[in-house]
Amino acid sequence: MSVTTPPPTTTAPDPFSQRLKNATWNDHSTAEHHGFTKALLEGELPLDGYTAMVAQHHFAYVALEGVARELADHPVAGGFHRPELERVPALERDLEHLLGSEWRDRISPSRPTRTYVARIEQMVDHPEGFVAHHYTRYMGDVSGGQFIRRVAVETYGFEKGAGTAFYDFGALGSLPRFRSDYRDRLDALELDEAAAGLLIEETRLAYRLNTEVLADLGRHHV
Ligand code: HEM
Repeated sequence: MSVTTPPPTTTAPDPFSQRLKNATWNDHSTAEHHGFTKALLEGELPLDGYTAMVAQHHFAYVALEGVARELADHPVAGGFHRPELERVPALERDLEHLLGSEWRDRISPSRPTRTYVARIEQMVDHPEGFVAHHYTRYMGDVSGGQFIRRVAVETYGFEKGAGTAFYDFGALGSLPRFRSDYRDRLDALELDEAAAGLLIEETRLAYRLNTEVLADLGRHHV
């Protein structure tokens, strides 16, 4: 009787989307468990704090979506954006609801938001880095953002989506499917080790920049 040796077990490397999530999940936790987000999630953030967050989002998304348009035909960055993701029109509706028709005169970017915006704008020349910023915001908005939306409706008594249009991704269809397609796109990127490392590092930076925006909001509104 011959003894057959089992074939050596080989473990396939994690797909890039999983590697990216694993490598950045601590940074996510820092952003998620911040004092400002904690107050928001516990329904203890005053409405002016929520409004201030929407205003800071507006500056970041004007930058993100401006760069997305410039990189629309880029073979790497162009695959990630779609018209249904555009948040600026929704943020403008929310700001009009929260601050009235003169909202533009009533908002200004905080110092951390200016730093964040400057970094996003630099990504015009670094398309892989732009993917990092795109991922950090939009995948967050279609994930934890949906939870924030429910809390905001309960806390502030918003009706018919007024004030939370930012979190409404109805035009995308199924969000689980969107997230899964997004991960497939990340996995299809043909990144060498150096480019993969840069994308991961830029995502960590994007989380830190977001956390600094939240920390500043927390100093003024919690
Ligand atoms: C406000 C508190 C937050 C909560 C409750 C929250 C919650 C979540 C949840 C439940 C997921 C899905 C995890 C999964 O698919 O297994 C997620 C994913 C994600 N969140 Fe958050 N999040 C919060 C804040 C943030 C912030 C501030 C950012 C960045 C600015 C962010 C960015 C992301 C990203 C990029 C993902 C996708 C991760 C991946 O699947 O690759 N989140 N979040």
